[in-house]
Amino acid sequence: MIRGKPRTASGRYDPRVTESDVYEAVGEAGFTRLVGAFYAQVPGDDILGPMYPQDDLPGAEERLRDFLVFRFGGPPRYAERRGHPRLRARHAPFRIDGAARERWVRLMERALDEAALAPEADAVLRGFFRDTASFLINRPG
Ligand code: HEM
Repeated sequence: MIRGKPRTASGRYDPRVTESDVYEAVGEAGFTRLVGAFYAQVPGDDILGPMYPQDDLPGAEERLRDFLVFRFGGPPRYAERRGHPRLRARHAPFRIDGAARERWVRLMERALDEAALAPEADAVLRGFFRDTASFLINRPG
């Protein structure tokens, strides 16, 4: 399913790469690798570590992985289990200021470096993560 054109890292829409192309290029294995590389950094992080559920990191890993798979046109497990993503509402309990946003993006960009996904998909994901992380800021500073 094609749901509009994803943006490139430069913020422009790239008509050559659709969202379902991203899922096809990355696949379950690529998203699992990416999210695994992200969460491996979380417990040791001074800003993000305390925010995440220490007793349910595998659960958190699965929720983010399934969300990305769903968002980029793969099987809708996330929607089946969690319903509508409502990301702003679900992040409301966490204190997300500019510093937390920067840190989240930095850890995810390191995870992207490590996961070495197909370049077109990598570019779309970097733009998506930066935009979504900015959208989730819910505290000044
Ligand atoms: C801006 C910095 C961000 C912070 C500090 C943050 C923090 C968190 C925390 C602490 C959780 C709870 C973990 C869990 O139990 O699932 C969470 C969940 C989640 N986050 Fe974020 N997040 C950020 C950005 C993002 C971005 C950019 C995305 C999308 C790509 C995202 C997608 C999700 C999803 C899908 C969940 C699970 C929601 C659910 O179904 O409960 N987050 N986030």
